Amino acid sequence: MSNYIFNRTFPHTRLRRMRVSDGIREMVAESHLLPCHLIAPLFVIEGKNARQSIKSMPEIERLSIDLTIDYVKELYREGVRMVDIFPVIDPALKTPNGNDAYHPETLAVRAVKAIKDACPEMMVMTDIALDPYTTHGQDGIIDESGYVLNDITTEALVKQTLAHARAGVDVVSPSDMMDGRIRAMREALESEGFVNTSIMAYSAKYASAYYGPFRDAVGSSGNLKGHKKGYQMNPANRAEALHEVALDIAEGADMVMVKPGQPYLDVVREVKDNFGVPTFAYQVSGEYAMHMSAIQNGWLTENVILESLLGFRRAGCDGILSYFALKASRMMNEM
Ligand code: PBG
Repeated sequence: MSNYIFNRTFPHTRLRRMRVSDGIREMVAESHLLPCHLIAPLFVIEGKNARQSIKSMPEIERLSIDLTIDYVKELYREGVRMVDIFPVIDPALKTPNGNDAYHPETLAVRAVKAIKDACPEMMVMTDIALDPYTTHGQDGIIDESGYVLNDITTEALVKQTLAHARAGVDVVSPSDMMDGRIRAMREALESEGFVNTSIMAYSAKYASAYYGPFRDAVGSSGNLKGHKKGYQMNPANRAEALHEVALDIAEGADMVMVKPGQPYLDVVREVKDNFGVPTFAYQVSGEYAMHMSAIQNGWLTENVILESLLGFRRAGCDGILSYFALKASRMMNEM
């Protein structure tokens, strides 16, 4: 390779020849982005024919289950094959321990059943964590000092996992960062016969300021006092991400995730190169808000949407969770 380059330099080698037409540019493209690479996060509310806008997330709405179904069908028509459910829980149902998380008729369970009934081909994933259900907005159960307790939180997450599996979810996705929860969830799923319910682990989830708009969307920001640095990772760390991923794979994760996305694509590349397992990243709410505010101000064009998603693919992502899922698929299908 290096000899080849040294022996044939300009003008024998003009890299611009491979950029001269659409045809050649498409032929030598090294990465590709398709609608089936996208996972659409959905905010689900109670009610009928109900929709609410989210101030910090332009064009994204919280939808009642009936309207969610229409949205899911539209995503499917555009080629998206997986959605991720985030329920917005009535404040009256929130408790310190977040018990509604595993109520057999909780909003997330009803949403999963309704979507699988209406559009069985669409894969449905659910978030496993307690933050939509707790009065304090933390992802787990806390002690008097506010410390999130690992092992009893894991027990609650296992109950939540089984409630979602019984509802027919295809993928459960723990976003809580408790230690050992993948093993506990996998063992519980196996023991109840859910051998094909897969786990997408938020393996390297960083304590990030980019989650702000999401917390507005699910209504946990007002409740959250303090931060999540006692369980989510320090943005300074790289090697620790590989350690987290190795443990989650050993414990039974089918897919691993890095989150947030764009500022952490170096981590995605290392995870893909080191482990070769299905690797995902989450283009989170703050990344969406940044892009949308610049687009709405006319400071950037909509072309940044597909460019940003292609960057995830180039970095090694098999799939990308993105609030742009519907808009980006439409853009791809119109090209
Ligand atoms: C909560 C959860 C968060 C996100 C997904 N699941 C927020 C948090 O950890 O505080 C963030 C998603 C986003 O910002 O788009 N377990």
